[in-house]
Amino acid sequence: MTARIVVLPGDGIGPEIAEQAMRVLGALGLDLDLQQAPVGGAAYEISGHPLPDSTLELARSADAILFGAVGDWKYDQLDRALRPEQAVLGLRKALGLFANLRPAILYEELANASSLKPDVVSGLDILIVRELTGDIYFGQPRGVRILEHGPYAGQKQGYDTMHYAQGEIRRIAHVAFQAAARRQGRLCSVDKSNVLETSQLWRSTVIDVAREYPQVELSHMYVDNAAMQLVRAPKAFDVIVTGNLFGDILSDEAAMLTGSIGMLPSASLNASRQGLYEPCHGSAPDIAGKNQANPLAMILSVAMMLQYSLDQPASALRIEQAVRHVLAQGLRTPDLYEPGTTRVSTTEMGDAVLKALK
Ligand code: IPM
Ligand code: MG
Repeated sequence: MTARIVVLPGDGIGPEIAEQAMRVLGALGLDLDLQQAPVGGAAYEISGHPLPDSTLELARSADAILFGAVGDWKYDQLDRALRPEQAVLGLRKALGLFANLRPAILYEELANASSLKPDVVSGLDILIVRELTGDIYFGQPRGVRILEHGPYAGQKQGYDTMHYAQGEIRRIAHVAFQAAARRQGRLCSVDKSNVLETSQLWRSTVIDVAREYPQVELSHMYVDNAAMQLVRAPKAFDVIVTGNLFGDILSDEAAMLTGSIGMLPSASLNASRQGLYEPCHGSAPDIAGKNQANPLAMILSVAMMLQYSLDQPASALRIEQAVRHVLAQGLRTPDLYEPGTTRVSTTEMGDAVLKALK
């Protein structure tokens, strides 16, 4: 059966890294129907909206979406609804991509790239499962209002609403427990239940779901402590499950443990295993068009796509092995360069991965 894949390259370095990912995908000998569409600032330039209907419809019809990156400083002045980031949020919501998987793996060759001591991070392999379609990101009401009473009367007040329904917590908890069961069997649920009502419900619901997974050891941590433990003893974690906002923050922190956010892929899945796959890093407008970006996170996102949405674990493994191989060869894009290694461009890195695949 032909797998339908929609590629949304986006802005900044997005198109450059998406190109390398497509080359890799094309070299696997799979039966694929690849289509491309504009998203983010690139789409805004063409059609006046960061997520045009035509792009959304194409994405809906796909088995999987490969997403580059969106955003540029030049759109900072636009209304929030027209900013490139809205394309990401719109796709997540429209496709129901509630489960965001962000692995943070330290490749042995890159142990020196981490800002932490090598012995703290060497062998690191954690997975953050972040809820992606709820929480304060999407909660209503939200807005800016004029206060009528109190010491700030007459002033504007910004407000957002944090909420989670039990069903939303349960479904992300199931994803996390299942992931933990396939790994080391340890799940840490992160919340702020000492302060927030939403978090209290989160915690009790996760405890409920845990009864179905006796093989998984569940622990709980407040988010401030989790942020601290992630830099103190990150290897103590196996799988972390948390809400949208906390997950946004902790996943960037976890990414940096590995030294380069340029290495980390992510998957965002819905209930029917349709998925959006994207690197954890952003559009890096400062190096866009310079053939300097690290394409490996995007290429590893292809591997995640093959594993989670296309049921091609063997091809996923081939890509992962090829990436390990080019690292072992000492090839590094500028983000990872250190003396004694070989500095390569985006396209040269793509070439090397293709060669390693063969
Ligand atoms: C991420 C990003 C997005 C988020 C932005 C671009 C809306 O930071 O995927 O982590 O906050 O979820
Ligand atoms: Mg983020």
